[in-house]
Amino acid sequence: MIPVVLAVALVPLMMTPSRLREQEEFDAAMGRIANSVVEFVQGISVVKAFGGSERAHRRFRTAADDFVGIFSRWVRGMSLVAAGMQLALSPPFVLLVVLIGGAALITSGGMAPADLLPFLLLGLGLTAPVAALGHGFDDMQAARRAVGRIKEVLQVPPLPEPAHPVAPQGHRVELRAVRFGYDADHEVLRGIDLVLEPGTVTAVAGPSGSGKSTLVQLLPRFFDPSHGAVVLGGVDLREIGSRELYRLVSFVFQDVRLLRASVADNIALSVPHAGRDDVVRAARLANIHDRILELPRGYDTVIGEEAGLSGGEAQRISLARALLADTPVLVLDEATSFADPQTEQAVRRALAALEGDRTILVIAHRLETVADADTVVMLENGSVVERGSPAELLARGGKFATFWRSHRSVAADDAVLRGEEPR
Ligand SMILES: Nc1ncnc2c1ncn2[C@@H]1O[C@H](COP(=O)(O)OP(=O)(O)O)[C@@H](O)[C@H]1O
Ligand SMILES: [Mg+2]
Repeated sequence: MIPVVLAVALVPLMMTPSRLREQEEFDAAMGRIANSVVEFVQGISVVKAFGGSERAHRRFRTAADDFVGIFSRWVRGMSLVAAGMQLALSPPFVLLVVLIGGAALITSGGMAPADLLPFLLLGLGLTAPVAALGHGFDDMQAARRAVGRIKEVLQVPPLPEPAHPVAPQGHRVELRAVRFGYDADHEVLRGIDLVLEPGTVTAVAGPSGSGKSTLVQLLPRFFDPSHGAVVLGGVDLREIGSRELYRLVSFVFQDVRLLRASVADNIALSVPHAGRDDVVRAARLANIHDRILELPRGYDTVIGEEAGLSGGEAQRISLARALLADTPVLVLDEATSFADPQTEQAVRRALAALEGDRTILVIAHRLETVADADTVVMLENGSVVERGSPAELLARGGKFATFWRSHRSVAADDAVLRGEEPR
């Protein structure tokens, strides 16, 4: 028993406050290394194209250098105790203890020599399970730390659901003195007043970083404004139950997420019981039907496994999804990088086909789409600087006009305004 007692007596030495602090530092340093590796791998194409490998490596090197210091401190603190335990449980040491004790007992006549044999065999077999217990203990400690980190994530509060949900009347959308910032110091929206009437298309324009995407993400309540309110059908979004809200609002956003599922399932995400006919109709409207038929198994092709889609194609799938959901409020944030002619055309066709009294808010990057809108809202630095019909604003020659002229040739704009198809 002596080796086992010795080993167990050393356990508290592994759990002193300074040891635990070193362990935390060690975990954090491991995390930093893992993050820098992920970042580096994700950015490889950019690094390749711009030759910044020196700089890209630096973050990893800093993390690794940092790790060396922490690791050696961790090992130094740990090694003496660990070595002591290893030694106490090692076969030679057990053998030594049993032999010395046995020899003493035999010479004093307290034990027959043959009786020593079982102690030798059992003693050697006893320490291996104790050592295994030690490893199990380490794993449990690691698991406990991991649970702690997962808990931190789970403890982030979700947007609160209303205790007494109110049903909106109609689908007029109003933004009332809306202010919002992702953090307290940087306000992204600085007091936006906006009314979206049913049956109209409102286009948001403005330079990159002006807050367009942030603004439209308030409609499906991805965030709550810090001041003011977003009101749908006379009811503050915070008082509408989320199921009801998503029955009323659908959206197509810049960073499209497609599931690892069939194309048809991806389109029918919010209407799981939709028939194939409805799915196809939505896909046609979103200008993606022909492309889907080219996939290995058409509508049954599993995205991400059997076929990959380009950014613009993924956006059109996402548009088809929103069209199939057929909600009275539709929010579209067309990505600049995906604004290829087909996607642009799909958006225009879809907007034209969505007759009736839908409330539509769209961020468009081409004048063709903006020209179809009833109202244009020009955003700059989180504030509305101009609003009016597209023709009005272009004629006025203000900020919106300047903004668009800097993007396109005057001739092309005029052609669009005369109603000619874009080339
Ligand atoms: N998730 C986010 N966290 C913190 N800041 C953000 C986030 N998304 C956008 N921002 C910041 O908010 C501002 C407006 O961004 P965004 O709404 O994307 O503008 P736009 O769509 O007009 O280009 C930018 O300064 C941007 O850096
Ligand atoms: Mg944006």
